[in-house]
Amino acid sequence: MKFIAPKIIAALTISLTAAAASAVTFSEINDRVLTPACAGCHGAVDASADLDITKLENIKANLESIKAAVESNAMPMASELLPEDKALLLKWIEDGAPE
Ligand code: HEC
Repeated sequence: MKFIAPKIIAALTISLTAAAASAVTFSEINDRVLTPACAGCHGAVDASADLDITKLENIKANLESIKAAVESNAMPMASELLPEDKALLLKWIEDGAPE
């Protein structure tokens, strides 16, 4: 037992570090939420409200209005996000929309 415990602690430390480092990225949010739920109306072709949401720079420039629109369920228009996708998107925005 006394030989195993340090290995378990080491393994736990490594997996905790990995979890902390793996914050949600733009490409994950884009694939999971923005492309399916927003880009149909806020893409390069049809940019409702002049917002092409497929580009990170546009998101960063509109962070507060995007946050407000998602929080209030005003967006996505005419549909809704899964609760876990909404939470993930808001968390990513609160983290400052990292790349
Ligand atoms: C079915 C089309 C449609 C979908 C899907 C959609 N939007 Fe919109 N969105 C619009 C239209 C149209 C407007 C402009 C009119 C309005 O503000 O009501 C708009 C406006 C906005 C605005 C500006 C609001 C403001 O107060 O200035 C934001 C931010 C926004 N959308 C974010 C999103 C996000 C984020 C998603 C995905 C989670 C999304 N939208 C999905 C059609 C859509």
